[in-house]
Amino acid sequence: MEIPVLEMHRLSDVHLDANLHVQLGDPAHQRALRFAKPGDREEFVAGRLALLNFAASLLDVNPNRLTSDYRCPQCGPGQDHGRPGFMLDGGPAPLALSASRASGWVLLSGVVHPTEDFRLGVDLEAVGRVGFVGFDDLALTGSEKRFLASIPDRDQATLRARLWARKEAWLKMIGEGLRHNPAELDVLDRPGLRDVTERELPAGQPRGLVAALALD
Ligand SMILES: CC(C)(COP(=O)(O)OP(=O)(O)OC[C@H]1O[C@@H](n2cnc3c(N)ncnc32)[C@H](O)[C@@H]1OP(=O)(O)O)[C@@H](O)C(=O)NCCC(=O)NCCS
Repeated sequence: MEIPVLEMHRLSDVHLDANLHVQLGDPAHQRALRFAKPGDREEFVAGRLALLNFAASLLDVNPNRLTSDYRCPQCGPGQDHGRPGFMLDGGPAPLALSASRASGWVLLSGVVHPTEDFRLGVDLEAVGRVGFVGFDDLALTGSEKRFLASIPDRDQATLRARLWARKEAWLKMIGEGLRHNPAELDVLDRPGLRDVTERELPAGQPRGLVAALALD
């Protein structure tokens, strides 16, 4: 059974150096340029850089030996989006990786030398970002809605965010993302899918954020 490493970083703490374009690669650079708000662009870049440094530390190599290799199940390799990965000295880096950004933080997860077909997905979610009018009908299955209604009101917002984080972690693990209808994916009790506990995050879990991890 693979045990993934988990790390959480505040995006504003990620040091952005002058060589950023080269470090992140052209597809990421082009995507960064498309962000309308400078703050969103900086957070995207910081998240990508945090993942690059995380991958280098897992492999114990200098980050400049890694180049980004994002693969979208729909569009193929060489993308600015999709499942994260890296090339090491021109060959595939032996890593399974996942990342998620929310409220100025990035959650990273990875396994070195994963077994064949191993996949993982993580998601970080701000409790305040879910639960808008109509959310439950768009996002939750019938049994999830019934379960949510059965627990005390004060716990509902956190559980709703946990359910959403579990869904996104699972959908990243399988690679489909929100092309898959989340209202058809029940995550109340799904083997391989669980909440990330505060204890698992060395820096602790910032208030108002929840996280989930999916492994296959
Ligand atoms: C993946 C997704 C569920 C997460 O979105 P989110 O909550 O807004 O953002 P998060 O920060 O939690 O996660 C984003 C990260 O998920 C990862 N990711 C994105 N697509 C992924 C996929 N198909 N499989 C696995 N991981 C994926 C990337 O590391 C991405 O980081 P990036 O922004 O630096 O590229 C959502 O973005 C999605 O469904 N994307 C696909 C949508 C799509 O089909 N787009 C059309 C392209 S063909």
